[in-house]
Amino acid sequence: MDFFSKISKNKNTLMKEIRIETKISVFESFDELSDSEKEYMNKAIEIRKKAYAPYSKFLVGAAIVLDNGVILQGSNQENAAYPSGLCAERVVIFYAGANYPNNKIVKMFISAAPSDREATSPIPPCGSCRQSISEYEVKQDSPIEIYYMGSTGPIHKSDSLKNLLPFMFDKENL
Ligand code: THU
Repeated sequence: MDFFSKISKNKNTLMKEIRIETKISVFESFDELSDSEKEYMNKAIEIRKKAYAPYSKFLVGAAIVLDNGVILQGSNQENAAYPSGLCAERVVIFYAGANYPNNKIVKMFISAAPSDREATSPIPPCGSCRQSISEYEVKQDSPIEIYYMGSTGPIHKSDSLKNLLPFMFDKENL
C-alpha cells in the first residue's frame, strides 16, 4: 500500500481495515497563487473559453507544464455521438504523451465552468481523467501537481495524482 495507508484491526469484528488520508491544499483565491502559478492557471482559463462543448455547454480548460518549461493547453472536445468526445485533461495529456514522450509532466492546471455562468467551487478532474493522468505519473516515476478551480473562487492543489486516486490501478496490477 501507499505511504499514507494504515492497516488496523477493528476491535468489534477482527476484520482488518485500510484507512487512507489524503491531502489537498487550498488557495482561498487566485491572488494567493505565486506569479508562475497565476500564469499557468491563466493558460487553463484562456483555453477553457475556446472549448468545443456545444452539447453540455460545460467548458473545461487544462494546461500542462513540462520539465523543459513548455506549456501545453487543451480543452474538452465534444461530439454528436456523445461518448466520442473527450475531456480537456485527456486532450492535453495525450498530446503531451504523443509529442513530448521523453519529458516529464510537472504540473497540470484546470479551470471549468458552464458557458452561461461562473463556477465558484473548485472542479476536480473526473475519474477517467484521473486514471489517464495516473498512467503518466507511474511512467515518469515522479508526481504531477494538479491545481483545479471553477471559473472563479478557491483553487485546490493536489501534490500528486495519488492524492486524488488512492487505490489506483496501474501496470503492477496486470
Ligand atoms: N469534462 C472535462 O473536460 N473534464 C472533466 O474532468 C469532467 C468533464 C467535460 C466532458 C464534457 O465535454 C463536459 O465536460 C461535461 O461533462
